[in-house]
Amino acid sequence: MSPQRVKFPVRIALLGCGTVGGGVIQLIRDNAEYLASRVGAPLEVTKVLVRDITKDRVPECRPEWLTTDPDAVFGEETDLVVEVMGGEDPANEYLERAIREGKGVVTANKLLLALHGPALVEKSINAGVDLAFEASVGGGIPIIRTLREALTSDWVESVHAILNGTCNYILTKMREEGASFEDALAKAQELGYAEAEPSLDVDGHDAAQKLVVMSMLAFGAKVNIADVPVEGIRSIDELDFRFAERFDMTIKHLAIGYDRGERIELRVHPAMVSKGSVLANISDVLNGALIHGRALGPCLTVGPGAGAMPTAVSVVADIVDVARSKREGEPGLATRGIQMQSRPLVPIDEVDSRYYLRFDVADEPGALATIATALGDQGVSIEQMVQEGRARAAGGAVPVVIITHTGREGAVRRAIESFAEAGFMRGAAKLIRIEDVQGN
Ligand code: NAP
Ligand code: HSE
Repeated sequence: MSPQRVKFPVRIALLGCGTVGGGVIQLIRDNAEYLASRVGAPLEVTKVLVRDITKDRVPECRPEWLTTDPDAVFGEETDLVVEVMGGEDPANEYLERAIREGKGVVTANKLLLALHGPALVEKSINAGVDLAFEASVGGGIPIIRTLREALTSDWVESVHAILNGTCNYILTKMREEGASFEDALAKAQELGYAEAEPSLDVDGHDAAQKLVVMSMLAFGAKVNIADVPVEGIRSIDELDFRFAERFDMTIKHLAIGYDRGERIELRVHPAMVSKGSVLANISDVLNGALIHGRALGPCLTVGPGAGAMPTAVSVVADIVDVARSKREGEPGLATRGIQMQSRPLVPIDEVDSRYYLRFDVADEPGALATIATALGDQGVSIEQMVQEGRARAAGGAVPVVIITHTGREGAVRRAIESFAEAGFMRGAAKLIRIEDVQGN
Protein backbone atom coordinates (compact mmCIF):
# COMPACT_ATOMS: atom_id res chain seq x y z
CA MET A 1 0.00 0.00 0.00
CA SER A 2 1.40 3.45 -0.86
CA PRO A 3 1.92 6.01 1.92
CA GLN A 4 -1.21 7.96 2.78
CA ARG A 5 -1.26 11.73 2.32
CA VAL A 6 -2.40 13.40 5.53
CA LYS A 7 -5.80 15.01 5.42
CA PHE A 8 -6.63 17.97 7.59
CA PRO A 9 -6.24 17.65 10.65
CA VAL A 10 -3.52 15.10 11.53
CA ARG A 11 -5.27 12.24 13.31
CA ILE A 12 -3.17 10.47 15.90
CA ALA A 13 -3.74 7.06 17.47
CA LEU A 14 -1.84 6.57 20.71
CA LEU A 15 -0.97 3.04 21.75
CA GLY A 16 -0.73 3.42 25.53
CA CYS A 17 -1.72 6.14 27.95
CA GLY A 18 0.52 5.68 30.98
CA THR A 19 3.32 8.01 32.13
CA VAL A 20 4.50 8.94 28.63
CA GLY A 21 1.17 8.70 26.80
CA GLY A 22 -0.45 10.96 29.40
CA GLY A 23 2.37 13.50 28.93
CA VAL A 24 1.95 13.38 25.15
CA ILE A 25 -1.78 14.11 25.39
CA GLN A 26 -1.12 17.01 27.77
CA LEU A 27 1.62 18.54 25.62
CA ILE A 28 -0.45 18.29 22.44
CA ARG A 29 -3.26 20.11 24.26
CA ASP A 30 -1.06 22.73 25.98
CA ASN A 31 0.85 23.65 22.81
CA ALA A 32 -1.98 23.06 20.33
CA GLU A 33 -1.75 26.35 18.46
CA TYR A 34 1.99 26.42 18.23
CA LEU A 35 2.15 22.80 17.09
CA ALA A 36 -0.50 23.42 14.43
CA SER A 37 1.57 26.28 13.05
CA ARG A 38 4.68 24.05 12.95
CA VAL A 39 2.87 21.21 11.17
CA GLY A 40 0.56 23.29 9.02
CA ALA A 41 -2.47 21.50 10.47
CA PRO A 42 -3.85 20.81 13.93
CA LEU A 43 -2.78 17.64 15.72
CA GLU A 44 -5.76 15.69 16.94
CA VAL A 45 -5.66 12.62 19.17
CA THR A 46 -8.54 10.46 17.99
CA LYS A 47 -7.91 7.02 19.54
CA VAL A 48 -6.06 5.76 22.61
CA LEU A 49 -5.45 2.04 22.99
CA VAL A 50 -5.16 0.81 26.60
CA ARG A 51 -5.56 -2.43 28.53
CA ASP A 52 -8.02 -1.19 31.12
CA ILE A 53 -10.58 1.37 30.11
CA THR A 54 -11.71 2.02 33.70
CA LYS A 55 -8.35 3.34 34.97
CA ASP A 56 -7.89 7.02 35.86
CA ARG A 57 -6.17 8.99 33.07
CA VAL A 58 -4.81 12.52 32.74
CA PRO A 59 -7.82 14.90 32.60
CA GLU A 60 -7.03 15.91 29.00
CA CYS A 61 -7.66 12.31 27.85
CA ARG A 62 -11.25 12.15 26.67
CA PRO A 63 -13.11 8.96 27.61
CA GLU A 64 -14.47 8.59 24.06
CA TRP A 65 -10.91 8.17 22.73
CA LEU A 66 -10.23 5.10 24.85
CA THR A 67 -10.45 1.63 23.42
CA THR A 68 -9.15 -1.84 24.13
CA ASP A 69 -9.72 -2.92 20.53
CA PRO A 70 -6.50 -2.74 18.46
CA ASP A 71 -8.48 -2.78 15.20
CA ALA A 72 -10.06 0.52 16.20
CA VAL A 73 -6.75 2.40 16.09
CA PHE A 74 -5.77 1.44 12.54
CA GLY A 75 -7.51 1.98 9.20
CA GLU A 76 -8.34 5.04 7.13
CA GLU A 77 -9.15 7.26 10.09
CA THR A 78 -5.63 7.30 11.50
CA ASP A 79 -2.68 9.20 10.01
CA LEU A 80 -0.03 8.62 12.68
CA VAL A 81 0.50 5.79 15.15
CA VAL A 82 2.36 6.71 18.33
CA GLU A 83 3.49 3.71 20.34
CA VAL A 84 4.02 4.44 24.04
CA MET A 85 2.89 1.14 25.49
CA GLY A 86 6.27 -0.59 25.81
CA GLY A 87 7.27 -4.25 25.61
CA GLU A 88 8.05 -6.44 22.62
CA ASP A 89 4.67 -7.89 21.75
CA PRO A 90 2.09 -6.83 20.76
CA ALA A 91 3.97 -3.52 20.17
CA ASN A 92 6.00 -5.05 17.34
CA GLU A 93 2.93 -6.47 15.64
CA TYR A 94 1.15 -3.10 15.89
CA LEU A 95 4.10 -1.14 14.50
CA GLU A 96 4.49 -3.55 11.60
CA ARG A 97 0.81 -3.15 10.85
CA ALA A 98 1.06 0.66 11.03
CA ILE A 99 4.01 0.59 8.61
CA ARG A 100 2.16 -1.76 6.24
CA GLU A 101 -0.80 0.61 6.26
CA GLY A 102 1.48 3.55 5.35
CA LYS A 103 1.06 5.43 8.63
CA GLY A 104 3.81 7.58 10.06
CA VAL A 105 5.15 5.86 13.16
CA VAL A 106 6.60 7.30 16.37
CA THR A 107 7.82 5.12 19.22
CA ALA A 108 9.52 5.55 22.61
CA ASN A 109 10.12 1.83 22.93
CA LYS A 110 13.85 1.08 23.23
CA LEU A 111 13.30 -2.57 24.09
CA LEU A 112 11.43 -3.08 20.83
CA LEU A 113 14.01 -1.12 18.83
CA ALA A 114 16.94 -2.95 20.41
CA LEU A 115 15.36 -6.26 19.38
CA HIS A 116 13.74 -5.33 16.07
CA GLY A 117 15.08 -1.87 15.15
CA PRO A 118 16.91 -2.87 11.95
CA ALA A 119 13.91 -4.88 10.68
CA LEU A 120 11.47 -2.06 11.48
CA VAL A 121 13.72 0.52 9.79
CA GLU A 122 13.99 -1.68 6.70
CA LYS A 123 10.22 -2.19 6.56
CA SER A 124 9.67 1.56 6.95
CA ILE A 125 12.12 2.36 4.17
CA ASN A 126 10.46 -0.17 1.87
CA ALA A 127 7.03 1.23 2.69
CA GLY A 128 8.23 4.84 2.28
CA VAL A 129 7.09 5.87 5.76
CA ASP A 130 8.82 7.55 8.69
CA LEU A 131 9.79 5.67 11.82
CA ALA A 132 10.87 8.18 14.48
CA PHE A 133 12.24 7.21 17.88
CA GLU A 134 13.86 10.18 19.63
CA ALA A 135 12.26 9.36 23.00
CA SER A 136 13.68 5.85 23.02
CA VAL A 137 17.12 7.14 24.11
CA GLY A 138 17.74 9.82 26.71
CA GLY A 139 14.10 10.78 27.37
CA GLY A 140 13.83 14.48 26.61
CA ILE A 141 17.30 15.12 25.23
CA PRO A 142 18.04 15.09 21.52
CA ILE A 143 20.46 12.21 21.12
CA ILE A 144 18.91 10.43 18.14
CA ARG A 145 18.53 13.66 16.16
CA THR A 146 22.05 14.71 17.07
CA LEU A 147 23.42 11.47 15.66
CA ARG A 148 21.09 11.18 12.69
CA GLU A 149 21.24 14.77 11.53
CA ALA A 150 23.84 16.99 13.17
CA LEU A 151 26.67 14.46 13.19
CA THR A 152 25.84 12.69 9.96
CA SER A 153 28.86 14.39 8.34
CA ASP A 154 31.35 13.06 10.92
CA TRP A 155 32.71 9.71 12.06
CA VAL A 156 31.69 8.82 15.62
CA GLU A 157 34.70 7.42 17.45
CA SER A 158 33.20 6.92 20.89
CA VAL A 159 30.15 7.39 23.07
CA HIS A 160 30.09 7.70 26.85
CA ALA A 161 26.57 8.10 28.12
CA ILE A 162 24.42 8.12 31.21
CA LEU A 163 21.29 6.62 29.72
CA ASN A 164 19.22 5.41 32.64
CA GLY A 165 17.59 8.12 34.72
CA THR A 166 16.56 5.68 37.43
CA CYS A 167 20.13 4.42 37.98
CA ASN A 168 21.53 7.93 37.93
CA TYR A 169 18.89 9.06 40.41
CA ILE A 170 19.59 6.14 42.75
CA LEU A 171 23.39 6.57 42.61
CA THR A 172 23.01 10.30 43.24
CA LYS A 173 20.77 9.77 46.28
CA MET A 174 23.12 7.11 47.66
CA ARG A 175 26.15 9.34 47.24
CA GLU A 176 24.70 12.70 48.30
CA GLU A 177 22.16 11.70 50.94
CA GLY A 178 23.33 8.28 52.06
CA ALA A 179 19.96 6.87 50.91
CA SER A 180 19.54 3.12 50.73
CA PHE A 181 19.23 1.50 47.31
CA GLU A 182 15.66 0.36 48.10
CA ASP A 183 14.43 3.80 49.26
CA ALA A 184 15.98 5.56 46.28
CA LEU A 185 14.43 3.05 43.86
CA ALA A 186 10.99 3.45 45.48
CA LYS A 187 11.23 7.22 45.03
CA ALA A 188 12.32 6.83 41.39
CA GLN A 189 9.27 4.64 40.81
CA GLU A 190 7.00 7.18 42.50
CA LEU A 191 8.39 9.91 40.23
CA GLY A 192 7.57 7.87 37.10
CA TYR A 193 11.22 7.32 36.08
CA ALA A 194 11.40 3.54 36.40
CA GLU A 195 10.19 0.96 33.90
CA ALA A 196 7.07 -1.05 34.76
CA GLU A 197 9.61 -3.80 35.58
CA PRO A 198 12.33 -1.81 37.45
CA SER A 199 14.92 -4.59 37.24
CA LEU A 200 15.25 -3.46 33.59
CA ASP A 201 16.65 -0.22 34.99
CA VAL A 202 18.78 -1.31 37.94
CA ASP A 203 20.24 -4.39 36.24
CA GLY A 204 21.40 -2.30 33.29
CA HIS A 205 19.18 -3.74 30.52
CA ASP A 206 17.36 -0.49 29.78
CA ALA A 207 20.67 1.33 29.25
CA ALA A 208 21.91 -1.57 27.10
CA GLN A 209 18.82 -1.33 24.90
CA LYS A 210 19.43 2.40 24.48
CA LEU A 211 23.09 1.82 23.66
CA VAL A 212 22.09 -0.66 20.96
CA VAL A 213 19.67 1.90 19.51
CA MET A 214 22.36 4.61 19.62
CA SER A 215 24.81 2.25 17.94
CA MET A 216 22.45 1.88 14.99
CA LEU A 217 23.12 5.55 14.25
CA ALA A 218 26.53 6.23 15.83
CA PHE A 219 28.27 3.16 14.37
CA GLY A 220 25.80 2.07 11.68
CA ALA A 221 25.69 -1.22 13.57
CA LYS A 222 23.18 -4.03 13.82
CA VAL A 223 23.90 -5.62 17.18
CA ASN A 224 22.55 -8.65 18.96
CA ILE A 225 21.76 -7.21 22.38
CA ALA A 226 22.44 -10.56 24.05
CA ASP A 227 26.13 -10.09 23.11
CA VAL A 228 26.50 -6.73 24.90
CA PRO A 229 28.16 -7.08 28.33
CA VAL A 230 25.77 -5.59 30.89
CA GLU A 231 26.07 -4.93 34.62
CA GLY A 232 23.66 -3.03 36.85
CA ILE A 233 24.11 -1.07 40.06
CA ARG A 234 22.88 -3.48 42.73
CA SER A 235 26.39 -4.33 43.95
CA ILE A 236 27.50 -0.72 44.51
CA ASP A 237 27.56 0.21 48.18
CA GLU A 238 28.42 3.11 50.42
CA LEU A 239 31.99 1.89 50.90
CA ASP A 240 32.63 2.04 47.14
CA PHE A 241 31.48 5.66 47.13
CA ARG A 242 33.85 6.39 50.05
CA PHE A 243 36.80 4.89 48.22
CA ALA A 244 35.82 6.65 44.99
CA GLU A 245 35.88 9.94 46.88
CA ARG A 246 39.31 9.13 48.26
CA PHE A 247 40.65 8.67 44.73
CA ASP A 248 38.89 11.88 43.57
CA MET A 249 36.36 9.92 41.54
CA THR A 250 32.67 9.15 41.61
CA ILE A 251 30.55 6.25 40.36
CA LYS A 252 28.23 6.51 37.37
CA HIS A 253 26.28 3.93 35.44
CA LEU A 254 27.63 4.27 31.90
CA ALA A 255 26.80 3.00 28.45
CA ILE A 256 30.03 3.00 26.45
CA GLY A 257 30.73 2.50 22.77
CA TYR A 258 33.93 2.67 20.74
CA ASP A 259 34.52 2.26 17.05
CA ARG A 260 37.42 -0.23 16.91
CA GLY A 261 37.77 -0.54 13.16
CA GLU A 262 36.13 -3.76 11.98
CA ARG A 263 34.67 -4.31 15.44
CA ILE A 264 32.83 -2.13 17.91
CA GLU A 265 33.21 -2.20 21.68
CA LEU A 266 29.94 -1.85 23.57
CA ARG A 267 29.49 -2.25 27.31
CA VAL A 268 27.15 -1.11 30.05
CA HIS A 269 28.24 -1.05 33.67
CA PRO A 270 28.95 1.12 36.71
CA ALA A 271 32.20 2.99 36.20
CA MET A 272 34.45 5.21 38.26
CA VAL A 273 35.02 8.55 36.59
CA SER A 274 37.17 11.46 37.64
CA LYS A 275 35.21 14.04 39.67
CA GLY A 276 36.40 16.63 37.16
CA SER A 277 34.89 14.81 34.20
CA VAL A 278 31.83 16.25 32.48
CA LEU A 279 29.81 13.12 33.24
CA ALA A 280 30.59 13.16 36.99
CA ASN A 281 28.37 16.16 37.56
CA ILE A 282 25.32 14.96 35.67
CA SER A 283 23.10 14.00 38.56
CA ASP A 284 19.62 12.87 39.59
CA VAL A 285 17.40 11.87 36.69
CA LEU A 286 19.52 13.77 34.17
CA ASN A 287 20.98 11.82 31.28
CA GLY A 288 24.01 12.86 29.30
CA ALA A 289 25.70 11.65 26.14
CA LEU A 290 29.28 12.58 25.36
CA ILE A 291 29.80 11.76 21.70
CA HIS A 292 33.28 12.04 20.27
CA GLY A 293 33.43 12.78 16.55
CA ARG A 294 36.66 12.39 14.60
CA ALA A 295 36.39 15.86 13.09
CA LEU A 296 34.19 17.51 15.72
CA GLY A 297 35.82 16.30 18.94
CA PRO A 298 33.60 16.04 22.03
CA CYS A 299 29.92 16.96 21.94
CA LEU A 300 27.79 16.75 25.08
CA THR A 301 24.01 16.68 25.37
CA VAL A 302 22.44 16.75 28.84
CA GLY A 303 18.88 16.87 30.11
CA PRO A 304 16.07 15.01 31.86
CA GLY A 305 16.25 11.38 30.79
CA ALA A 306 12.89 10.15 32.03
CA GLY A 307 9.49 11.26 33.27
CA ALA A 308 6.23 12.23 31.62
CA MET A 309 6.84 15.71 30.22
CA PRO A 310 10.52 15.44 29.20
CA THR A 311 9.76 12.25 27.30
CA ALA A 312 6.62 13.77 25.80
CA VAL A 313 8.75 16.62 24.43
CA SER A 314 10.71 14.11 22.35
CA VAL A 315 7.65 12.13 21.28
CA VAL A 316 5.74 15.23 20.21
CA ALA A 317 8.79 16.61 18.37
CA ASP A 318 8.80 13.36 16.38
CA ILE A 319 5.06 13.68 15.78
CA VAL A 320 5.63 17.18 14.38
CA ASP A 321 8.39 15.97 12.05
CA VAL A 322 6.51 12.94 10.80
CA ALA A 323 3.24 14.84 10.39
CA ARG A 324 4.93 17.66 8.51
CA SER A 325 6.78 15.38 6.14
CA LYS A 326 3.52 13.54 5.38
CA ARG A 327 1.69 16.80 4.80
CA GLU A 328 4.42 17.99 2.48
CA GLY A 329 4.30 14.73 0.54
CA GLU A 330 7.85 13.65 1.50
CA PRO A 331 7.32 10.89 4.06
CA GLY A 332 10.15 8.53 4.93
CA LEU A 333 13.06 10.89 4.22
CA ALA A 334 14.55 10.81 7.73
CA THR A 335 14.29 7.03 8.00
CA ARG A 336 15.82 6.47 4.56
CA GLY A 337 19.09 8.00 5.77
CA ILE A 338 19.69 5.23 8.33
CA GLN A 339 22.20 2.63 7.14
CA MET A 340 23.27 -0.37 9.17
CA GLN A 341 25.33 -3.49 8.89
CA SER A 342 26.25 -6.31 11.29
CA ARG A 343 29.46 -5.50 13.16
CA PRO A 344 31.21 -7.91 15.55
CA LEU A 345 31.67 -6.88 19.18
CA VAL A 346 34.93 -6.83 21.12
CA PRO A 347 34.61 -9.53 23.83
CA ILE A 348 34.80 -8.12 27.35
CA ASP A 349 37.97 -10.11 28.11
CA GLU A 350 39.73 -8.13 25.38
CA VAL A 351 38.75 -4.75 26.78
CA ASP A 352 41.56 -2.57 28.13
CA SER A 353 40.81 -0.42 31.15
CA ARG A 354 42.00 0.69 34.54
CA TYR A 355 40.24 -1.06 37.41
CA TYR A 356 39.11 -0.44 40.96
CA LEU A 357 39.32 -3.82 42.69
CA ARG A 358 37.92 -4.34 46.17
CA PHE A 359 38.60 -7.43 48.22
CA ASP A 360 37.00 -7.89 51.61
CA VAL A 361 39.61 -10.05 53.32
CA ALA A 362 40.40 -11.53 56.72
CA ASP A 363 42.72 -9.21 58.65
CA GLU A 364 45.67 -11.60 58.64
CA PRO A 365 49.20 -11.71 57.20
CA GLY A 366 49.67 -12.89 53.61
CA ALA A 367 46.44 -11.74 51.98
CA LEU A 368 47.87 -8.60 50.41
CA ALA A 369 50.93 -10.44 49.16
CA THR A 370 48.83 -13.16 47.51
CA ILE A 371 46.63 -10.63 45.75
CA ALA A 372 49.55 -8.52 44.53
CA THR A 373 51.44 -11.60 43.31
CA ALA A 374 48.43 -12.97 41.43
CA LEU A 375 47.93 -9.66 39.63
CA GLY A 376 51.66 -9.44 38.88
CA ASP A 377 51.67 -12.98 37.48
CA GLN A 378 49.01 -11.92 34.98
CA GLY A 379 50.94 -8.81 34.01
CA VAL A 380 48.53 -6.44 35.73
CA SER A 381 50.34 -3.45 37.16
CA ILE A 382 49.20 -1.86 40.44
CA GLU A 383 48.94 1.92 40.61
CA GLN A 384 47.72 2.26 44.23
CA MET A 385 46.80 -0.08 47.05
CA VAL A 386 44.86 0.80 50.21
CA GLN A 387 43.86 -1.27 53.22
CA GLU A 388 41.39 0.56 55.39
CA GLY A 389 41.29 0.12 59.18
CA ARG A 390 41.42 -3.08 61.22
CA ALA A 391 38.75 -5.73 61.54
CA ARG A 392 36.47 -4.95 64.48
CA ALA A 393 36.18 -8.57 65.58
CA ALA A 394 38.29 -11.71 65.27
CA GLY A 395 37.63 -13.27 61.85
CA GLY A 396 36.15 -10.01 60.59
CA ALA A 397 36.90 -8.49 57.21
CA VAL A 398 38.78 -5.41 56.10
CA PRO A 399 38.53 -3.91 52.63
CA VAL A 400 41.62 -3.92 50.46
CA VAL A 401 41.33 -1.67 47.43
CA ILE A 402 43.61 -1.70 44.43
CA ILE A 403 43.68 0.73 41.54
CA THR A 404 45.43 -0.79 38.53
CA HIS A 405 47.16 0.72 35.56
CA THR A 406 45.55 -0.05 32.22
CA GLY A 407 45.31 -3.78 31.70
CA ARG A 408 43.37 -6.41 29.82
CA GLU A 409 40.18 -7.46 31.58
CA GLY A 410 40.73 -11.15 30.90
CA ALA A 411 44.08 -10.97 32.75
CA VAL A 412 42.54 -9.18 35.74
CA ARG A 413 39.77 -11.75 35.95
CA ARG A 414 42.20 -14.67 35.74
CA ALA A 415 44.20 -13.16 38.61
CA ILE A 416 41.08 -12.73 40.76
CA GLU A 417 39.88 -16.27 40.02
CA SER A 418 43.24 -17.70 41.11
CA PHE A 419 42.62 -16.73 44.75
CA ALA A 420 38.80 -16.58 44.81
CA GLU A 421 38.64 -19.67 47.03
CA ALA A 422 41.52 -18.65 49.36
CA GLY A 423 40.78 -18.82 53.09
CA PHE A 424 41.33 -15.08 53.58
CA MET A 425 38.60 -14.04 51.12
CA ARG A 426 35.38 -12.84 52.78
CA GLY A 427 32.93 -12.67 49.90
CA ALA A 428 33.37 -12.11 46.19
CA ALA A 429 35.90 -9.65 44.79
CA LYS A 430 34.49 -6.47 43.29
CA LEU A 431 35.67 -5.02 39.97
CA ILE A 432 34.62 -1.55 38.81
CA ARG A 433 36.15 -0.24 35.60
CA ILE A 434 37.71 3.23 35.71
CA GLU A 435 36.69 5.08 32.59
CA ASP A 436 38.88 7.86 31.27
CA VAL A 437 36.08 9.84 29.73
CA GLN A 438 37.19 11.62 26.57
CA GLY A 439 36.26 15.26 26.68
CA ASN A 440 36.94 15.87 30.38
P1 NAP B 1 3.37 2.83 31.48
O1 NAP B 1 3.18 3.99 32.39
O2 NAP B 1 3.43 1.48 32.06
O3 NAP B 1 2.21 2.90 30.38
C1 NAP B 1 2.00 1.89 29.45
C2 NAP B 1 0.66 2.13 28.76
O4 NAP B 1 0.49 1.19 27.73
C3 NAP B 1 -0.54 1.97 29.69
O5 NAP B 1 -1.51 2.94 29.40
C4 NAP B 1 -1.08 0.58 29.36
O6 NAP B 1 -2.47 0.46 29.50
C5 NAP B 1 -0.73 0.48 27.89
N1 NAP B 1 -0.49 -0.90 27.47
C6 NAP B 1 0.52 -1.72 27.84
N2 NAP B 1 0.40 -2.91 27.25
C7 NAP B 1 -0.72 -2.84 26.49
C8 NAP B 1 -1.37 -3.77 25.64
N3 NAP B 1 -0.92 -5.00 25.43
N4 NAP B 1 -2.50 -3.35 25.01
C9 NAP B 1 -2.97 -2.10 25.20
N5 NAP B 1 -2.39 -1.19 25.98
C10 NAP B 1 -1.27 -1.56 26.62
O7 NAP B 1 4.70 3.01 30.62
P2 NAP B 1 5.47 4.36 30.29
O8 NAP B 1 6.41 4.69 31.41
O9 NAP B 1 4.52 5.40 29.82
O10 NAP B 1 6.43 3.89 29.09
C11 NAP B 1 5.91 3.69 27.80
C12 NAP B 1 7.06 3.47 26.82
O11 NAP B 1 7.90 4.61 26.81
C13 NAP B 1 7.96 2.29 27.16
O12 NAP B 1 8.45 1.73 25.97
C14 NAP B 1 9.11 2.95 27.92
O13 NAP B 1 10.30 2.19 27.87
C15 NAP B 1 9.23 4.23 27.13
N6 NAP B 1 9.84 5.35 27.85
C16 NAP B 1 9.43 5.65 29.11
C17 NAP B 1 9.97 6.75 29.75
C18 NAP B 1 9.55 7.14 31.14
O14 NAP B 1 10.15 8.06 31.72
N7 NAP B 1 8.53 6.52 31.73
C19 NAP B 1 10.96 7.51 29.11
C20 NAP B 1 11.36 7.15 27.81
C21 NAP B 1 10.79 6.08 27.18
P3 NAP B 1 -3.20 0.56 30.93
O15 NAP B 1 -2.95 1.98 31.39
O16 NAP B 1 -4.63 0.29 30.67
O17 NAP B 1 -2.52 -0.43 31.82
N1 HSE C 1 13.22 3.87 32.96
C1 HSE C 1 13.92 4.73 32.07
C2 HSE C 1 14.98 5.48 32.85
C3 HSE C 1 12.95 5.68 31.43
O1 HSE C 1 14.97 5.45 34.08
O2 HSE C 1 15.85 6.08 32.23
C4 HSE C 1 13.54 6.48 30.32
O3 HSE C 1 13.81 5.69 29.20
